[in-house]
Amino acid sequence: MSKRKILVTSALPYANGPIHLGHVLEAVQTDIWVRFQKMRGEQCIYVCADDAHGTAIMLRAENEGITAEQLIANVKADHQSAYDGFLIDFDNYHSTHSDENRHYSETIYKALRANNRIAVRNITQLYDPEKGLFLADRFVKGTCPKCKTDDQYGDNCEACGATYSPNDLINPRSTLSGATPVQRESEHYFFKLPEFTDMLKAWTRSGTLQEQVTNKLSEWLDAGLQEWDISRDAPYFGFEIPDTTGKYFYVWLDAPIGYMASFQQYCDRTGTNFDEYWAPGSDAELYHFIGKDIINFHALFWPAMLSDAGYRTPTAVFAHGFMTVNGKKMSKSRGTFINGHTYLRHLNPEYLRYFLASRLGNGVDDLDLNLDEFVNKINSDLVGKLVNIASRCAGFITRGFDGMLGQQVEASALLAECQAAADDIAQAYEQREYQRGIRQIMLLADKANQFIAEQAPWTLAKANPQDPRVQAICTSGINLFRLLMLYLKPVLPAMAEKAERFLNVPALEWTASTTLLLSHKINNFEPLITRVEQSSIDAMLAEAAADIEKNAQKPAAATVPQAIDSPLGKEPIADEIEYPDFAKVDLRIAMIIEASYVEGADKLLQLTLDLGIGADGKPETRNVFSGIRSAYKPEDLKGRLTVLVANLKPRKMKFGMSEGMVLAAGPGGSDIWLLSPDHGAQPGMRVI
Ligand code: 2FM
Ligand code: ZN
Repeated sequence: MSKRKILVTSALPYANGPIHLGHVLEAVQTDIWVRFQKMRGEQCIYVCADDAHGTAIMLRAENEGITAEQLIANVKADHQSAYDGFLIDFDNYHSTHSDENRHYSETIYKALRANNRIAVRNITQLYDPEKGLFLADRFVKGTCPKCKTDDQYGDNCEACGATYSPNDLINPRSTLSGATPVQRESEHYFFKLPEFTDMLKAWTRSGTLQEQVTNKLSEWLDAGLQEWDISRDAPYFGFEIPDTTGKYFYVWLDAPIGYMASFQQYCDRTGTNFDEYWAPGSDAELYHFIGKDIINFHALFWPAMLSDAGYRTPTAVFAHGFMTVNGKKMSKSRGTFINGHTYLRHLNPEYLRYFLASRLGNGVDDLDLNLDEFVNKINSDLVGKLVNIASRCAGFITRGFDGMLGQQVEASALLAECQAAADDIAQAYEQREYQRGIRQIMLLADKANQFIAEQAPWTLAKANPQDPRVQAICTSGINLFRLLMLYLKPVLPAMAEKAERFLNVPALEWTASTTLLLSHKINNFEPLITRVEQSSIDAMLAEAAADIEKNAQKPAAATVPQAIDSPLGKEPIADEIEYPDFAKVDLRIAMIIEASYVEGADKLLQLTLDLGIGADGKPETRNVFSGIRSAYKPEDLKGRLTVLVANLKPRKMKFGMSEGMVLAAGPGGSDIWLLSPDHGAQPGMRVI
């Protein structure tokens, strides 16, 4: 049979925040599906990227005193390391701020324009005259026109639930500058979505979507579609629209095109043919895994754009629900907003992969990470059932039979049942009914444990460790374990790899279910996974709560760990370094002789530092931008001594070169303390 050609995507995470467990839910759901397809021998390619454009990213970069390009590079590295930590096996991970994405965004736009699908007209929006920016609804606050509650966002009132346009707010103000917004007109570009109503009615009802999703979309389609505003005015971080000045593609226009861009990068790297996957009538399958909140973008705008621009439409869009923690929406105020890295610092990624798989169906229901159930599930299923099968049998084979499995099995009926389950379990994976698959696997694990308990090889081995029945029973046990581990491999790839080493077999593929391992030498058993400890859960929650607390103190959401002084973000702290590494750092006493605010950077102060007489016999000064504005006034710093990392490579910032870094400590906000040496230290002295 010829291989299926399958292209799979997860939604592109925004580059203005870290990967949290909601992202992990989606990536794990997708990754399990992709790993399963690969184990079946299909040609399955999994791509993703960072979604890197938009006002929020532009403002955050400005706030941090770095360029948007620097910000998105830092965030991308942070996202990729979190996904790696959860064993998400992308075939390619790119960015929407890329040449490939510019190419496809422009190509698609030009095709739509040539087909007369773009309308241009003036609209009036609120504008912040101080910032020089048009204000999206979330950047305007004011008094609700209906119930008169103050401090409400520009689109709806949290007090009475009224929805309105920001123009209707009483006493509106910009959340960016506090200025009173003014009405301003500008020209916008619209995609004529209503012209696709018939096409979309047919497409959304053709089996491409889950039933609940089709029903929801039918409501929207019946209510009538609106033209979609795809342009934003400068300043904006994104791609300028061809043949315009100062008009940019709205971030959501080029975000899904990022799927194509990432795939193009994959094609260039591997020599794969792009058109085989994206041309109309392609025999490849295309699937998007997404959250239920972004269905309109993927099931209305996206197929309409694709079909009109001469590309194929997705085979299916798979939407999932949200993750809750202990029954509640992930929330910063409750301390249940858990970042991927926070989880990974305390817990094994495969615990979460398994827990999610054991709860995931193919609908759009929310999934609750109840942490008590999480602990029970892992300890009972993985440690108590699965690993137990191998650990109870391996020792007898190693000690009594020099690691050789027997030629015979004892439990042939149970083994046959376990082998026969391969098709059902495969179907469960294929249909994204992981919960069903896991249930079936664990029922088989129960039977395997029952078999071993009944046969009690330990009793026989006590009388005679070389009793052939001991070998046959344990050979059966190890084979049962092998089959179960094979079925769980899409969910537990690292554990499966360890099991392959123990079993002394090449990487398990799905067809391995048709064979048994007989007269085969296995390796010594090594622990495959340890129990989850409640203390690790507690420590993770404490860290999540502390993160939230820390970020609350900072003026802007700090989502990439930032060294206080380093506008480029800091490297992860290494566990231990050798002395020669430390000796490379040239720490010097410096005196702050000038300090001033930096226009346009709310976090930075510009410092002029006196380093005494330099190697060339001349007085040496340095210019340094330091992120300590929240804690110090410039006038309080003049004349102070501090410590400078003098041989840090100068960094080019928007405001000028930063030539080194001063040392400070503290959680942030007003709690930042510049390190000061004792009296007697002189500018230029080396710190020893
Ligand atoms: O909702 C989000 O986080 C978006 N960044 C998802 C984009 S998915 C795709 F369209 F790029
Ligand atoms: Zn109201």
